[in-house]
Amino acid sequence: MKKRIAIFASGSGSNAQKIMEYFKRHHEGEVVIVLSNNPDAYVLQRADNFEIPSHVFDRQEFYHTDNIVNLLKNLQVDIVVLAGFLWLVPDNLLKAYPNKIINIHPALLPKYGGKGMYGDHVHKAVLANNEEETGITIHFVNENFDEGEFIHQSRCKIDKTDDLEMVKFKIQQLEHTHYPKVVESLLKKMKS
Ligand code: GAR
Repeated sequence: MKKRIAIFASGSGSNAQKIMEYFKRHHEGEVVIVLSNNPDAYVLQRADNFEIPSHVFDRQEFYHTDNIVNLLKNLQVDIVVLAGFLWLVPDNLLKAYPNKIINIHPALLPKYGGKGMYGDHVHKAVLANNEEETGITIHFVNENFDEGEFIHQSRCKIDKTDDLEMVKFKIQQLEHTHYPKVVESLLKKMKS
């Protein structure tokens, strides 16, 4: 039986797109729902293009009800994939999916993580520190931003001439290449 994937995203959703594409061609899992805290997130359009249902929630629903956990359980979701999702995950969701919620971060954690460290903020900080390399981290999610056991890291060199756009491009290449495969390898390890 295919494992069932839920994706949480707050913005553009290019990683969500790659995961949706990947699991059209690879049959270990399928994306069954996309969730967002942002009604204007482009990821919702991407989900629609794949004819994957979506759900938008607000703070009240996410942090003060069990609606999201119930929704995921009713859909028999096996794994929760955060892809550019910018809110902390509440306790009820962490408890419902122990070691089954994963996140991607555009840096080599534990460096350049934590509150406010997302998207371009991360790359700008990396460049400001004249780092010679950067990369991505895929990790299990806990109650803090960008913490939890690492599952995968990949690195890339930063050339002296690299600007923000170039670093962003290199990171996006790494993310798009590795995130779907890491999700697949976790699904393979899950008992059915
Ligand atoms: C990705 O680079 C992801 O690593 C980052 O947000 C971007 C989302 O891009 N996540 C974080 O910074 C989490 N702290 P996308 O919407 O195009 O997938």
